[in-house]
Amino acid sequence: MSTPTSDVLIIGGGVAGLTLALEIADHSLVTLVRPDQDDQGASRWAQGGIAAVLSPDDNFEAHINDTLIAGDGLCNAEAVGFTVTHGPSAIQWLIDQGVPFTPETGPSARYPYHLTREGGHNARRIIHADDATGRALVDTLLNKVNQHPNITQYCDLTVVGLLKDDQGACCGAYGCDTHQQWHSITASYTVLATGGASGLYRHTTTPAPSSGEGMMMAAELGANLMNLEFQQFHPTCLFDPEGPAFLISEAVRGEGGLLLNETGQRFMPALDKRAELAPRDIVARAIDAEIQRGTLGHVLLDIRHLGEKAIRHHFPTILAHCASRGIDITKQAIPVVPAAHYSCGGVATDLKGATDVANLYAVGEIAYTGLHGANRMASNSLLECLVFARSCAQALLVKTREQSECSPIFECRPSLSVNAPKAALSDIRQRMRATMSQYVSIVRSTAGLNTALEQLKGLLNTLEEIDDVSVDPEGKRLQQALQLAILTVLAAQQRHESRGLHYTTDWSQQQPVAVASRLSMKDLPNKR
Ligand code: SIN
Repeated sequence: MSTPTSDVLIIGGGVAGLTLALEIADHSLVTLVRPDQDDQGASRWAQGGIAAVLSPDDNFEAHINDTLIAGDGLCNAEAVGFTVTHGPSAIQWLIDQGVPFTPETGPSARYPYHLTREGGHNARRIIHADDATGRALVDTLLNKVNQHPNITQYCDLTVVGLLKDDQGACCGAYGCDTHQQWHSITASYTVLATGGASGLYRHTTTPAPSSGEGMMMAAELGANLMNLEFQQFHPTCLFDPEGPAFLISEAVRGEGGLLLNETGQRFMPALDKRAELAPRDIVARAIDAEIQRGTLGHVLLDIRHLGEKAIRHHFPTILAHCASRGIDITKQAIPVVPAAHYSCGGVATDLKGATDVANLYAVGEIAYTGLHGANRMASNSLLECLVFARSCAQALLVKTREQSECSPIFECRPSLSVNAPKAALSDIRQRMRATMSQYVSIVRSTAGLNTALEQLKGLLNTLEEIDDVSVDPEGKRLQQALQLAILTVLAAQQRHESRGLHYTTDWSQQQPVAVASRLSMKDLPNKR
């Protein structure tokens, strides 16, 4: 059992975690715990880009307004204004780090980098690195992190819980390595950057998304979880039952891609004047309805009319992946389905990433900052990662100068390691995902949510009957995922309206006043 200490412990190696590490490491000792495989997590798979007001033809009011409209009445206006106005400096920071954004050349260029469009945006404001922006960001930032002498990295540690001191303040985390050894890492300040909860669902846009374990770790220490019911489904994931999850970027529609049903007809113009570029909740619901009406299990996304040269130029990654799966997107329309993509809710934080637990912070998809409201607008998430990681860094730099005392107690740390039966855990996880996908996805109903709650409670009981399951790292993470799934259903049950991503056939109207939901560990139903 090792107990290294640092000023700041960051858990998570996506854009939020890496940005934060780089922003504080010149002045603080940083411990970064991140997955070994750099392609885990969602950041690296982000294709489209980062939304920010960069063009002289755009302005802050327009970006704020588009975000508020997409968020369907539930955004926190202060968080929106804060994020949007800090966008240009965050992008400049990335340019200074050397991120290879796609340039815009030619005499009519209004900004040195190409800006694309995505759903909900009334201007070209998405800066990108071809169609693999997340990969370019993570590679560039990780390269810098690897060289920084003040950043100690652990890549083989699965963090399963947080440490608290006798005042209830967070003072680090504990986890298990690949040799089944438990470790605790103490720190004056702990930052969770562990991602969202799309892994609660069967079909997702990234191969190995998290299932909200970090959210539950924060909740275990007393943090509040807000707006969990707003799970975003990206409208266009490649329909490829035998292959890995693969996103077809919204930028494809931004550059003119058209959605067609099985009979080759466009269906979006009749539903929304923004057509294929309506906000995601609207497009995903429309696709879901077409799929229910049809027989193929997917709709089609057609970009052939852009021409081979433009397709190769704008979408080299999508072109190559689809080709590897036998689809030539210059000659065929792409079969697509909606898939779980992004959690708009999460651990409640302020504008500096501070949670309700002393010395505990959360940044990136794990956090609920109020930016996204009931439906996140495309490419506002990487922006949020950057802006909040940078504001969190500023707050922590002030605090680490004051240096809080940390006197950890360890009774929450498991003292033994067991091997829970892996087949049983895998079966419970699959059943959890099936339940969430059937009853808690794009279209919901009161009866469906009630069924989901009963099934999830049953699965949690079954899990907790396995001996010492919570001291098996995989068992503990599954317990956290199930608890979060239950809280998600409870949040959905409490919302007696359809708003943004939460659409229920039993409450089709909106309540006159939009209220964010807030739950905590205390709201979990008692055990049988
Ligand atoms: C995409 O490229 O469509 C994903 C961008 C996002 O989710 O913001």
